[in-house]
Amino acid sequence: MSTAQSTYSKGLEGVIAAQTEMSFINGSEGILEYVGIAIGDLASQSSFEETVFLLWNKRLPTAEELGAFTTDLRANYGLCDSLKARITACPADAEPMHVIRTMISSMAMDDSSPNENSVEAAREKSLQILATAPAIVAAFDRHRRGLEIIDPDPSLNFAGNFLYMLNGEKPTPAMIRAFDICMITHADHGLNNSTFAARVVISTLSDVYSAITAAVGSLRGPLHGGANEGVMKMLNQIPDVEGAEEHVMNMIKNKERIMGFGHRVYKSKDPRASELMTLAKQLAEDTGNMDLYNKSHAIELVMEREYASKGIYPNVDFYSATTYHCIGLKLDLFTPMFVLARIAGWAGHVIEQLGDNRLFRPTTDYVGPHDVAYVPIEKR
Ligand SMILES: CC(C)(COP(=O)(O)OP(=O)(O)OC[C@H]1O[C@@H](n2cnc3c(N)ncnc32)[C@H](O)[C@@H]1OP(=O)(O)O)[C@@H](O)C(=O)NCCC(=O)NCCS
Repeated sequence: MSTAQSTYSKGLEGVIAAQTEMSFINGSEGILEYVGIAIGDLASQSSFEETVFLLWNKRLPTAEELGAFTTDLRANYGLCDSLKARITACPADAEPMHVIRTMISSMAMDDSSPNENSVEAAREKSLQILATAPAIVAAFDRHRRGLEIIDPDPSLNFAGNFLYMLNGEKPTPAMIRAFDICMITHADHGLNNSTFAARVVISTLSDVYSAITAAVGSLRGPLHGGANEGVMKMLNQIPDVEGAEEHVMNMIKNKERIMGFGHRVYKSKDPRASELMTLAKQLAEDTGNMDLYNKSHAIELVMEREYASKGIYPNVDFYSATTYHCIGLKLDLFTPMFVLARIAGWAGHVIEQLGDNRLFRPTTDYVGPHDVAYVPIEKR
C-alpha cells in the first residue's frame, strides 16, 4: 500500500514548486529570458550590476538607480577583519568551494541582526553577500599561494575588481568584459537545484545566510555547477584536437557521463552555451588557446552526432570551462565563479520567497512494509 496522494515524479521533474518573475526558460526552443529580456541581449548590452538590479527589482534601472545600486555594491566590496582572519585560518589545501560555503555561513556572525527576514533586510544582506563573495575567493586564493591579500578597488566594476583582487594587477577592459558576460549568463536559471535549496531553507524563515550556504553546497555537485571543472579535466585528458573523437567515443562506450552536456530542462542547445561559445572562441584567439577551443568544438560535434537525437546538447558549463581557462583562472576556481554570479539568482529567489512565503514540505511515497512484528533484540 502506497501513501502517495499525487503522482510521484523522480527528481521532481516537471513539478512546478514556485512562481517567479525572474527567469523564463523554454527548453525545447532554447530560450532564456531574465524578466522577459533575452539572455543574448543582456550578454551583449547589459552589465552584471544592471542584470542584478533587473532580477531583484523586475525592471531595468534608470541611470540614477543603477549609479546608486553600483555605489552601494562597491561600498561593500571589502572584508571585515574577522572574516579576513577566518579566511587566513583556512588550511591552504582546502577546496575553494568548501571555503566559500563556510565563509558565507560565517558572515552571519558578523551581522548584528542575522535572522531579520523582512524583504528589505533580505535585500541588504543579499547585497552584502554578493559584494563580499569575490573578496572571499580572491583572498583565499592569495592566502593559499602565500601572497598578500589585496584590498578591493571601488573604482572597478564587480568583474574588474574580482580579477584585480585575485591577480594583483588591473585586468584589461577585454578581460573585464569577458568576465562580466560570464557573470550575466550565470546569474539566474529558474528553479535549478541550488536555487530550490535556497528557497526551501528560507521557507522555514531561517535566515539568508543559511539559504545561500545551502545553495553553495548544492551547486558544487558534479551534476550541477561542479560540471565546469569536470569539463576542464576532460579537456586536459585529451592531448590534441585529433584525440577528441576517440576520447569521447571511449567515454560513451564505458557509459560515462560527458560533463557539460545534457540538461533537465533544455532539450536543445542551452542559449548560454551559445553565448559562451562565441566568447570562448574570441578569448582563445586573444590568449593563444585555440587548441583548447578546437578540442571543445570537436567534442561538441561528436556529441551532436551521437546524442542530439536524445536531446543532449552542450549546457552552460561546457564552454565556460574554456572561457575561465582563457581568463587565467585555476581549475578549482571555476565552480566558485558560478557561485559569484548565481548569488544574484539565489538572493532574488530568497527575496521572492519571503515576499509570499509558504513552507516547502513535500511528501514521500512510502514503499516499505506494514504490520511488521517488533522482534526483541535478543531474538534477532
Ligand atoms: C544535467 C543532468 C544531471 C540532467 O539529467 P536528468 O534530466 O536527470 O537526466 P538523467 O540523468 O535521467 O539522464 C537521462 C538519460 O540521458 C543520459 N545522459 C544525460 N546526460 C548525459 C551526459 N552528459 N552524458 C551522457 N549521457 C547523458 C543518461 O545517461 C540517461 O540515459 P539512459 O536513459 O539511457 O539511462 C545530466 O544531463 C548530466 O548528468 N549531465 C552532465 C553533468 C552536467 O553537465 N551538469 C551541468 C548541468 S547545467
